[in-house]
Amino acid sequence: MYVKRVTLRNYRNYKDLSICLHPGLNIFYGDNAQGKTNFLESIYLCGTGRSHRTSKEKELIYWNSESGLVKSDIRSGNIDTSIQIQLFNIKPKIVKIGGVKINKLSELLGNLNVVMFSPEDLKLIKEGPIFRRRFMDVEISQVKPKYYYNFQQYNRVLMQRNNLLKSIRGDGSKAKMLDVWDEQLSEYGSHIVKYRIEFIKKISILAKLVHRKITSGDEELNIYYSSKFKNINNREEGKIAIYKDLVDSRKKDIERGFTSVGPHRDDIDFYINNIDVKTYGSQGQQRSAALSLKLSELEFMRSECLEYPVLLLDDVLSELDIKRQKYLLENLKNIQTILTCTSINEIKEFRKGDRFVFIVDKGVINRME
Ligand SMILES: Nc1ncnc2c1ncn2[C@@H]1O[C@H](COP(=O)(O)OP(=O)(O)O)[C@@H](O)[C@H]1O
Ligand SMILES: [Mg+2]
Repeated sequence: MYVKRVTLRNYRNYKDLSICLHPGLNIFYGDNAQGKTNFLESIYLCGTGRSHRTSKEKELIYWNSESGLVKSDIRSGNIDTSIQIQLFNIKPKIVKIGGVKINKLSELLGNLNVVMFSPEDLKLIKEGPIFRRRFMDVEISQVKPKYYYNFQQYNRVLMQRNNLLKSIRGDGSKAKMLDVWDEQLSEYGSHIVKYRIEFIKKISILAKLVHRKITSGDEELNIYYSSKFKNINNREEGKIAIYKDLVDSRKKDIERGFTSVGPHRDDIDFYINNIDVKTYGSQGQQRSAALSLKLSELEFMRSECLEYPVLLLDDVLSELDIKRQKYLLENLKNIQTILTCTSINEIKEFRKGDRFVFIVDKGVINRME
């Protein structure tokens, strides 16, 4: 799938923009703070319904405007459609697919699959588990709407359980009410765990292959799902295991005032040549493992949706050594790639004649070649 045209009105620092994209490589260059990331963000927003940078939609609207608009015309297979998102200062956004308003954000997912890769992603391995869980949640949600639904419900119930835990401290008679929340948490949680097990199983094989290539066969990357529930065989088993854990930890949870067990505590482990990369890997190894992981997402999405997603590369080339830059650019030929950089010099000759190059200057984008 690819984006044919992007239209922005009062979005971030874009007053009014409409540009056509190349189905292959698109390079956007310009100085800092000109709007390169904003542009990628608008495409990410059409794919996922969220910004990768903020949860406050108001920030996306051009200063002092009441509303903003992002539209992507996309082609998937040989079908054309469009995704349009209207943003408002004082009310929730309106999302339309092919001109028809949707009611639930889950209906948006799967229409335009995107993979965003920015310098922060290179830190995915060494940062806290919350980033790695978010990685799983975003990726699986895009290809499995049912996952997204269960994930949202899980978080809703988790919040309610946590509120209850706090109030039990003042009124012990409320403890009985935990039964209801624990039942629901284990139901939703068992779906989450099941999907995560499948996801990590697939992504670990793909990432291992990519990593072997990136490191010319020197390094063997293994990725494992790190969860108390990683060995369950089916959903029913998962539900029983989560429920039991929740009940067993009630006393501790009431003391602490939050839920200390469940899939919201999961993580991913990375090993290179059997060494734990999070703890013992060099910075270079941690970055390579993150790159392999991101690239394996492309193959994962293709295997799930039969089409490659759109790849958004924000300022990452300068963060990688020449060998990895080359690998990245040479392996993306069938994937629409939208790349930002501050200087065109390093990739001047790359795929010349078969690409679009744009210059971004204070919220204005002009095509150079
Ligand atoms: N809601 C907004 N309205 C207008 N300008 C904005 C808004 N949000 C961010 N900006 C401006 O966008 C610019 C940053 O754009 P960004 O895409 O991050 O730059 P870069 O080209 O470095 O990736 C800054 O100049 C910032 O002031
Ligand atoms: Mg930027």
